[in-house]
Amino acid sequence: MIEFQNLTKYFKDFCAVDNISMTIRKGEILGLLGPNGAGKTTTLRMLTGYFRPDSGTIKIEDFQMPRDIIKIKSLIGYLPESAPLYHNMLVYDYLEYIAKIKGLHDKEARHDRFLQLSDLCGLSSIMAQPIADLSKGLKQRVGLAHAMMTDPEILILDEPTSGLDPNQIAEIRNIIKTIGKEKTIIFSTHILSEAEATCDRIAIINKGRMVADDTTASLKLSAKQSSLIKLSLKGTLLDDAKALLENIDPAIKVKNIGDVKNIETSEKDIVSFEISSADDEDFRSDIYLKIKETDWIIIELAKESQALEKIFQELTREVRDETN
Ligand SMILES: Nc1ncnc2c1ncn2[C@@H]1O[C@H](COP(=O)(O)OP(=O)(O)OP(=O)(O)O)[C@@H](O)[C@H]1O
Ligand SMILES: [Mg+2]
Repeated sequence: MIEFQNLTKYFKDFCAVDNISMTIRKGEILGLLGPNGAGKTTTLRMLTGYFRPDSGTIKIEDFQMPRDIIKIKSLIGYLPESAPLYHNMLVYDYLEYIAKIKGLHDKEARHDRFLQLSDLCGLSSIMAQPIADLSKGLKQRVGLAHAMMTDPEILILDEPTSGLDPNQIAEIRNIIKTIGKEKTIIFSTHILSEAEATCDRIAIINKGRMVADDTTASLKLSAKQSSLIKLSLKGTLLDDAKALLENIDPAIKVKNIGDVKNIETSEKDIVSFEISSADDEDFRSDIYLKIKETDWIIIELAKESQALEKIFQELTREVRDETN
């Protein structure tokens, strides 16, 4: 279990992390989400003992920071923001070096661990390659193997998929999910879909403050409540359809989100809209009844969850507005 209370960190008079508290249970995968500069790395550095908080407490299992820092460090595998690797070493030599530093002195035990890690992180074909020659995704896998060398109970991963291509992201995500079955994991990201796909729980921080902390399922549910209606129509013109929809109720907002053109005639074949309302009322029945009076064809009429994207944007809007 990881428990931190009222964590605060200043850099001179700038407050990077502002009074945040959380308890992360054993076996949880927590996604720490936030825009650039939100304070994710600073928080993770405090949890791993690299920064001392200005105030607040950190307890990991039965141990207290900073008193039990050595014990705590032995419980945590940490993958920093840019995994520091020795580029002139071969992968195998590097892992061997890390294993020895971490106290795996028994040759057989070390060999067994390498086999497990190589299997888990997909390293078998690159063991004899120089780290400098590896792609970013492969380097990240070596960094993960480093973090997991002693099979720690807790893994703290700072943007493990940053800068990777979609295939590499999926691979790292699978590794995290596999490890997450047995371990407690905190990983930071500013990619929402990533947290959504991988985590049981999501905490969003913005300007050093915790602005949301809930299970992924509950966050999704609250996002669903502010839903949009997606409507696609065939056999009508954009302006006609828009006018008809806007006439249904003054609370309705209609946004055109794309048209499919007929290749032969260049006419707009299908027009699509996103329909929202100020008070989140569900206007699907009214829309259907109104369109029934015409000869237009409804291709799609569905209520769509706005996913977490919207929650994230709303909770972190201030920063975006300031930086835009
Ligand atoms: N060592 C430091 N000295 C001074 N300011 C710092 C230091 N480390 C971080 N900061 C500042 O603290 C704030 C939070 O930084 P942090 O690196 O924790 O953000 P982050 O959420 O990890 O962002 P990113 O997504 O870009 O990695 C930023 O404004 C940053 O400039
Ligand atoms: Mg960071």
